[in-house]
Amino acid sequence: MPSGVDMKEQINLGAGDPDVEAPRNVVEAAVEALREGGRWTHYSHIRKNPTQDNFLEAVVDYYKGLGPTYELEQVIPPAGSGAALSIAMATLLEKGDEILMFEPAFMGYFRPLKELGVKPVFAPLSEDRGFHPDTETLGEYVTPKTKAILLCSPNNPTGTVLTPEETQGIADLAIEHDLNVIADEIYLHYIYDDNVFTSISGLEGMKERTINVMSFSKTFSMTGWRLGYALVPERHLEKAKEKAGFINAMPATFVHAAGAVALREGWDYVDKLRKEYLKRRNYFCDAVGEINGLSCQRAEGGFYAWVKIAGTGLDSQEFVERLAEKEKLNLTPGHVFGGKRDDYVRVALVRPMPVLEKAVERLRGFVESL
Ligand SMILES: Cc1ncc(COP(=O)(O)O)c(C=O)c1O
Repeated sequence: MPSGVDMKEQINLGAGDPDVEAPRNVVEAAVEALREGGRWTHYSHIRKNPTQDNFLEAVVDYYKGLGPTYELEQVIPPAGSGAALSIAMATLLEKGDEILMFEPAFMGYFRPLKELGVKPVFAPLSEDRGFHPDTETLGEYVTPKTKAILLCSPNNPTGTVLTPEETQGIADLAIEHDLNVIADEIYLHYIYDDNVFTSISGLEGMKERTINVMSFSKTFSMTGWRLGYALVPERHLEKAKEKAGFINAMPATFVHAAGAVALREGWDYVDKLRKEYLKRRNYFCDAVGEINGLSCQRAEGGFYAWVKIAGTGLDSQEFVERLAEKEKLNLTPGHVFGGKRDDYVRVALVRPMPVLEKAVERLRGFVESL
């Protein structure tokens, strides 16, 4: 190695892409389906077909434990929840509409809304409320153009888990103003402490106005497999199927075999992973809180740390760029989550503890050098 070459390895805590593999039996199910060939290797259509039915049944059975019961045809299974979100948005919204959402919000929402010509209207999740919404004042963000509310609980990036009362408050608002709801539930199995998941579609009057969006990416660490689904109420089904056909991002057929096994047999795996994410959250948040200039409220769910950097004097873009350059540690700047959070950076806790310990040391070194 030539002298002077910096061999410090890159640590990427930017993307929310878990470091672990999908459960072994889930992998085996996909391999087996491929070996069997035939029906598993043809087009996967959104129309009913026997290969997909087993997967759709697994989704319906699984969701019964969380919220309302759906018919098989109400499950639209595209390639990941990103595609499911696009289908939901295109189904419920048109050019010129507004959608009420909480900020900070997952950056993946903004592009499809922009493409549709829909304006996001942000209700803040403020730090002094522990990043929970003020449902009393939420009505102030509703205009005659508002057509839907977008929820993400647990929230990416803040980790906020909406309480049952907050969820009810949002449902009341939706009913009062005749709004539809898109419920992004993809982190629901990673919830900590006394927080609980509430399915908004399970509340009275909400099933018919809610599209639930779910993914295998985070629950079963299957980001690269591209599998998710939308649960669509009867009255929006025809349009949603039309949009799904148009958006056309369907998973490979044999991935359905894996998805069904994950939903039926994958829960010990999820349990173990939840404990691991909890350990990471506790360690990272506490350790970062001891660095002068940084602070961190423990996330209620998800696997991100939302770290306040206000005490460093840098804005979030400058912070992540200089940190990456100096310490080879990649984080996500707060301003990408809706535009107003330059005081924060998001850290995806998707590396094992020894790597997170190194990341904390690099953060400390960086902040102290400022
Ligand atoms: C809140 C949220 N929704 C949706 C997605 C998209 O996930 P996928 O398309 O992998 O299912 C992500 C990915 O990070 C996310 O954080």
